[in-house]
Amino acid sequence: MIFARSLMEDRHVVLKSRQEIVEMKAANRIVAEILDAIKGIVRPGITTEELNGFAEEKLREKKAKPAFKGYRGYPKALCTSVNSQVVHGIPSRTPLKDGDLLSIDFGAYYKGFYGDAAITIPVGNVSDEALRLKNIAEEALYAGIKKAYPGNRLSDISFAIQSLVEKNGFSVVREFVGHGIGRSLHEEPQVPNFGCPGLGVRLKAGMVLAIEPMINAGGSEVKILQDGWTAVTKDGSLSAHFEHTVAITEDGPVILTRLDG
Ligand code: MF3
Ligand code: CO
Repeated sequence: MIFARSLMEDRHVVLKSRQEIVEMKAANRIVAEILDAIKGIVRPGITTEELNGFAEEKLREKKAKPAFKGYRGYPKALCTSVNSQVVHGIPSRTPLKDGDLLSIDFGAYYKGFYGDAAITIPVGNVSDEALRLKNIAEEALYAGIKKAYPGNRLSDISFAIQSLVEKNGFSVVREFVGHGIGRSLHEEPQVPNFGCPGLGVRLKAGMVLAIEPMINAGGSEVKILQDGWTAVTKDGSLSAHFEHTVAITEDGPVILTRLDG
């Protein structure tokens, strides 16, 4: 079964030429710049709706479009997920509080391509546990990216993420996965954040993947709130999320959503 599925996925993976990867840098750079600017204005008292307005304004300045707004009816440019919210939190008029742990997921469309990234930001002074959760989520993302070499298998990325997270006593969300990205926001293959190594499609130069570990301080289970979007941890524990869009090249991974390249 796994083999058949991996063959099928392989056919649908859209490989990008070197030129297309260069072109994709523009959309992804916009995502990185705007996320960095948002980081600079996050503070206790600001609302996530204000952060969303700021992001939409910046997108207009750069002549780019929000990737999420309108996607399956999603209403905003940002996903803002606070504390036990895992992903897809909808920006609201509730002010952020000192000690909140805020995940921001943001995508842009520019000149034919999508970029997608997420960061988790401490609001004011957060607990040691929140800080550690945030740091491990980011480390897990980089552990996954380090496996994004031609010749490796897709689940080598998944396994690296899961191992790092579980070694540190946290859990990995299974209901949501990373994804291929390019002229569509979501392309094959799906990129789970858990699994045995050595399975799935063989990684090739020209693949572009959005790798996005979502990790919980408690159990891995999540549920969706009444709004139909917001995913929260079932046990109410804290959650963190980091994401980069990564191009696989002959020389290894190139992170397209990093300001310093
Ligand atoms: N980074 C997420 C993803 O690529 C964000 C999607 S939010 C949605 O799946 F609103 F667009 F669904
Ligand atoms: Co994504």
